[in-house]
Amino acid sequence: MKTIPFTELQANPAQLIGHQWMLITAGTPDKFNTMTASWGGLGFLWNRPVAFVFVRPNRYTRPLIDAQASFTLSFMPEKYRNDLVFCGRHSGRDTDKMAATSLQPLTTPGGLIAMQDADIVLECRKMMVTTMQQEDFLDWSEVSPRFYAEDNPLHRVYICEITAAHVRE
Ligand SMILES: Cc1cc2nc3c(=O)[nH]c(=O)nc-3n(C[C@H](O)[C@H](O)[C@H](O)COP(=O)(O)O)c2cc1C
Repeated sequence: MKTIPFTELQANPAQLIGHQWMLITAGTPDKFNTMTASWGGLGFLWNRPVAFVFVRPNRYTRPLIDAQASFTLSFMPEKYRNDLVFCGRHSGRDTDKMAATSLQPLTTPGGLIAMQDADIVLECRKMMVTTMQQEDFLDWSEVSPRFYAEDNPLHRVYICEITAAHVRE
């Protein structure tokens, strides 16, 4: 892959995250997991390029994100759509997603695990982590019970510096 400045990324972030979706991969080469996500954003904060993602605390990936300083976002070509659906419906708690899909891990120049054959890989260093609170919503009825209920807990919010952006050559 070719490493580029984040500002030279040609893709439209709304299309990337909302339509192409992404794989959040976290952990170490010995123990990592990947999950599909379609809620998040790319932008600027604290004078840096940032990515922000929203992960429910009950995801298997969540403690793996919490345990390391950084994780990756991989944006896959359309031919992996079924694999993204799989990684969004099955948990690494009881499934080896690398064995069950055509996805294969890749070690980034920063030593993180991402997915081979991605169109774009972003290395993300956590800067701010918090968990959404019900009392912070102006209108709780807009989001609950549709998005939040007993078995659907409030998201953890990760705001991360994009420390490297890699695109497929
Ligand atoms: C299209 C799609 C988008 C998703 N987006 C998110 C998301 O942004 N945040 C989240 O917490 N879960 C999201 N999920 C659900 C997780 O991917 C799913 O619960 C997954 O099984 C978690 O895997 P894990 O338990 O191995 O971490 C999404 C699922 C799909 C299919």
